[in-house]
Amino acid sequence: MKVMKTFLRTLTTGALMLSLLAGCTNGPTKETSTSTNSSKPTSSNSSEIADNTSNATSNQDTDDILEIGVIQYIKHPSLDTIYASFEAQLEELGYRDGVNCEIDLKDAQGDQSNCNSIVQAFKADKKDVIVAIATPAAQAAATVAKDIPIIFSAVTDPVEAGLVTSIEQTDKNITGTSDAVQVDDILDLALQFYPKLNRIGFLYSTGEANSVSNLQKAKEFCEDRGMQLIESGVSNSSEVQQAAQVLFTKVDALFIPNDNTVASAMPMIAQEAIKAQIPVFTGADSMVGDGGLATNGIEYTALGAETANMVDKVAKGTPISEIPVKVFDDNLSIFVNENTAKALEIEIPQEISSNEHYVVKNTNE
Ligand code: TRP
Repeated sequence: MKVMKTFLRTLTTGALMLSLLAGCTNGPTKETSTSTNSSKPTSSNSSEIADNTSNATSNQDTDDILEIGVIQYIKHPSLDTIYASFEAQLEELGYRDGVNCEIDLKDAQGDQSNCNSIVQAFKADKKDVIVAIATPAAQAAATVAKDIPIIFSAVTDPVEAGLVTSIEQTDKNITGTSDAVQVDDILDLALQFYPKLNRIGFLYSTGEANSVSNLQKAKEFCEDRGMQLIESGVSNSSEVQQAAQVLFTKVDALFIPNDNTVASAMPMIAQEAIKAQIPVFTGADSMVGDGGLATNGIEYTALGAETANMVDKVAKGTPISEIPVKVFDDNLSIFVNENTAKALEIEIPQEISSNEHYVVKNTNE
């Protein structure tokens, strides 16, 4: 608490104070956080923590700094976008990494045990707030760090994931932002492209609660319309390629929800899909940018920025119970990869391309 109060005073005294601080605070530099960024979280982690601890004892001003531990479940374009907009908004709000805050970003590389050791280290480090990007990271944080405020980012179904009692009721130490996937809208979009669609494949990682919740929705959609849903679950990224290849022999189209493990392998799946001439509909715009055919969804920059706004509230003393989960489920756009459409030799139906929310999202754009 002392940290928060001192920090608050620092933040509210304005720009002059900030620039003074820049001169006198011997805080961690930007380089520190960039280098921790790419480091392996497990084995090298302990030495980083040791370094941080020695910084803390040798640096009298460390208590003036808001210490933010950020755990990103895995690297893929969507989570990277979320982190970039989170960081940009923090800066907008007056937080300067290495000056009046310290952002300790760790990549869990899609591994649950990495998640656990990273949040254990954040706990040992007494971070003021933990930011957890994606569901498995948030679940690890919630399990391990029960007395540190946690702001999760882009958790598809925070209730199903066991993080909050309800969207309105944040009665534990955790709240955040949610990217509810519009499963029905995406599958309706698939039917606009292919009105005779019958067998839909569903590729996901069984360990991701976000995908399991979407699987349920996809099943209901297909049942209601007498369509077949053929699911294939993987337990890690090394199984994705083969699972995709097998599914492509059985389905008319593939639907991939916003599954982190599968998203990280999306460029490869997109190539396989073109070879098999099967369209892939996805749970997020980034996967369209990585070669999927289309989705109906949100822009993730706003979600990353709101995650930073919530950290700001926590830093200013607002209790988590007064910060409801913010679900991003409006301002949806239809994202289509026109290069993929060409490679699949299909026309984009007029009713789709003339939609006012139509966005072209070609590979590498
Ligand atoms: N919603 C995902 C989760 O709950 C995280 C996520 C955000 C994601 N954007 C994505 C996953 C894009 C795959 C693709 O963990």
